[in-house]
Parts: sequence; structure tokens; C-alpha cells
Amino acid sequence: MKRIYSSKTTQYLGKKVKVSGWVHSIRFHGKIIFAGLRDEQGLLQMVFTPKNKQVYEMAKELKPEWVISVNGKIQKRPKEMVNPKIKTGEIELLADEIEILSRAKTIPFPVDTDGYEIDEKIRMKYRYIDLRRERLKKNLKARQQTIQFMRNFLIEKGFLEVETPILTKSTPEGARDFLVPSRTYPGTFYALPQSPQQYKQLLMVSGIEKYFQIARCFRDEDPRGDRQAEFTQLDIEMSFVKQEEILELIEELFISLVKKIFPKKKITKIPFPRITYEQAMEKYNTDKPDLRKNKKDKNELAFAFIIDFPLFEWKESKKRFDAMHHPFTRPQEEDVGKVKKNPGKILAYQHDLVLNGYEVGGGSLRIYKPDMLEAIFEIMGHKKEEIRERFGHLLEAFEYGVPPHGGIASGLDRLLAIIQGEPNIREVIAFPKTGENRGLMMNTPSEVSKEQLKELKIKFEKKK
Ligand code: AMO
Repeated sequence: MKRIYSSKTTQYLGKKVKVSGWVHSIRFHGKIIFAGLRDEQGLLQMVFTPKNKQVYEMAKELKPEWVISVNGKIQKRPKEMVNPKIKTGEIELLADEIEILSRAKTIPFPVDTDGYEIDEKIRMKYRYIDLRRERLKKNLKARQQTIQFMRNFLIEKGFLEVETPILTKSTPEGARDFLVPSRTYPGTFYALPQSPQQYKQLLMVSGIEKYFQIARCFRDEDPRGDRQAEFTQLDIEMSFVKQEEILELIEELFISLVKKIFPKKKITKIPFPRITYEQAMEKYNTDKPDLRKNKKDKNELAFAFIIDFPLFEWKESKKRFDAMHHPFTRPQEEDVGKVKKNPGKILAYQHDLVLNGYEVGGGSLRIYKPDMLEAIFEIMGHKKEEIRERFGHLLEAFEYGVPPHGGIASGLDRLLAIIQGEPNIREVIAFPKTGENRGLMMNTPSEVSKEQLKELKIKFEKKK
């Protein structure tokens, strides 16, 4: 017999079925044994009676989390046993055959709770068990549905999904790079991308006018509740666009996403409020204001766009200006003339998307004139040769016919954590790192063999 999901058994009343999964719970009720079977789709109650002696004796030995297959007949539960909380709450499976597929040690923590009460380090070490929890399965599912929705939405609008390299060169997004040593060229390194920023701009030069990617990004920064060293963006870039068109696209995307995938959620204000950086700082003292009307309402989503950011911010530690967003951001037209004279006063075509007090997206129109890009890098203290060395490819590309372009990237992990009402983004990532950037399950980062280091020609200085 072919195995079916527990959730499908409701269609088999009076019929024989085979189900497989994990023993969720066991209960002795007089002589009858009730056991819950859990599979990816939910729970099913199984009943074992002494009438079928062989199966009954086996059922007595069952322990939680053993993996079993059970054949039997689907029957209605007595009225007083109906459980309205589960999909299969009106039926049960009267078992007449059982196969034990694998036994399990006692699991380190329960998986039938929401799990917040358990030490997170232990949950991370045994993440494969933690993920058996319904709450986390729901989060993974919401994540997949969100990504699928975004893909379909953008493809329908004529966007092309393009994958860009993971082994690449440093891109200045403001964090440290993760470096990967090259074996073939000892002493040189790839950098993992902080975002696909330069590649997506180069794709505009290639004539891909509407690009998107569900992109993995890597930033060597200390993780926090809303930050991981490795995270995912919905990355978008378009040619020949005005800032307004980018904002409209994102607004339509998020409104229809919420409507279709998260219908219980209410968006506070449509169209999304647009607030200038200056107004936001003046009124809320932050550039990511929480505009919810009722902060206790878990179904409220307050989106807003923050615009008109300054192009530069003064970095006292470096004693120089740094790009507020990134150095590829275009100054506003009226301010172009002031770039060199008064860098602190220039506004940029930059836009952030905020949601309930978090930045869930950021982007800009880009500089596409090579001389202006060079001028911006110089203001940030880069020497001419260094600019050529690090960004020569982009400057050169812009000499071969570049369309004006711009885009935005939205942080998927943050978006999902907020929509799912989770306290941090680790809860919506299958295998996240801890607050100290460790992968506790596989014990990463970890040492590598002497042979590997030798091949890479890497030697460590002895600790003094
Ligand atoms: P930015 O650096 O603003 O822009 O990133 C875009 C969005 O990505 C999310 N994000 C993160 N999420 C989790 N962990 C992190 N460490 C992390 N860092 C950023 C945020 C943020 O708004 N290349 C540009 C985009 C562009 O200009 O088009 C970029 O990456 O939600």
C-alpha cells in the first residue's frame, strides 16, 4: 500500500490506509493505547486494542519520536473524543499492522510547544529536531510562499532572475568581507558578496533591463536579533527608471503579497507614507520609525518609505565622509553641483522601506557617469589608483553604454520575522548562526587540516 499524509486520511473514512511518521505522544487509557502520529502535514490519532495481539504488544514498546509505518482503518472518533484543534480531530486510525522504521533516543527538548522556553543554544545544536516544531515548520512554509509569490509577481512583470557569483570581489556595503583564500593563486582571496550590487549594475550594462534575484549576502558583522552574517535579499535592479517607479513597484509587491499570502494582516496605511529623512529624524528621532497605530496588535503592518537621505555621513572615527547607503548612490539632480563644495549637504536618490520600526529594504538610483563615480570615491578618501584597482571594472563598463538605472533590495529574513511575529530573524531561518556567529549544530567555524592549510600556503603566527 502507498503511504499517504495524515492530513489526507479524512478522505478515507471506513477505508484502509498506510501512514508513516514520528510517534508524537503515547497514552494508555485502560487497556487501549492511543498514540499520536506526526508527519509533515500534521497529527493523526492511532488506536491499538488488545484484540490484535501482535500489534498491541509492539505498540506497548513504542517511544516518542520513533519512526513508524502503520496500516489500519480510518474510523470516526466517539463524540466525546473529538479534538477540534487538529485537522484530523474527528477521526482516528484503528491499527492492524505496524512497522518500526527507526528507534529514537529521548530527544533533548519537547517539540510540541512553541519552543521559546528552551535554551536557544540547545535548540541550535539540535536544530534538526527543533525544526520538527510546528511553529518553525510554519515559518519555513511562509518563507517559501513569500519567495514563490515574489518570483511569480516579478516574472509576470517581465523581470529576469539571474544568479550572480558567490566567489567574488569585495563590494563596499559598509561591513567587513568574508574572505576565501585561493589555492591556485596563493596570497589572493575571493570575497563573499555583501550583496550582488556591482553585478546587478553590470547586468544593466548588458541590457538586462529588469533583474531580480533571491540573493544570499554575507557580511562579517556581529549578529543581532535583526542581523545575521548570512542573510537573504530580494534584490532588484531596473534600467531607465525614476525613483518613483521603484517605490511603486515595491509598494504593489508588498500590498499584494500581504493580501494573498498573509490575509489576516492589516496594512496601516495605503499608499505607504513617504517621509523624508529630515522629517523622520525631527519627528521620530530615527530613520526607521514604527508607525503602527496600536503596537499591541500583532496583525498590524506599518510600511513607510524614507526618502531624501543625505548622500554622505561624516565618520568621526575615520575623519572623512562615508556613503550613507553605498558609494554607487546618485546625488539628487539639483545638488550635483555641490558635491565637491559641500558634501555634507547633498541629498541622494536613496529610499529605505521600513516596517514596524525595522529597515526591511534599501536602495537608490545609481551614478552611471564614470567621472562622477570617481569624484564620489575621492570625497570618501580613496586614491585614484585604489579606485581603479577596486572598481575599475565598473568604471570601464560604464564607458561602453550604460543606461541610467536604480534598484532596491529587501531583507527577506527581517520581513518574515516581522510578519510571523517572531522576536528575531533566527526563527525564520532554517539553520541560523548564534549571536556569536557560530553554527552550533555543525560546529562552525572550525579548524581545517594541516594539509588544507599547506595547500593554501597559509601559516598562522604563533600566539605570543
Ligand atoms: P542594504 O545594505 O540596505 O542594501 O541591504 C538591504 C536590506 O537587507 C537587509 N539586511 C540584513 N538582513 C539581515 N541581516 C543583515 N546583516 C542585513 N543587512 C542588511 C535589510 C536591508 O534593508 N545593495 C544594496 C541594495 C541596493 O542599493 O539596491 C543593499 O544591500 O532589510
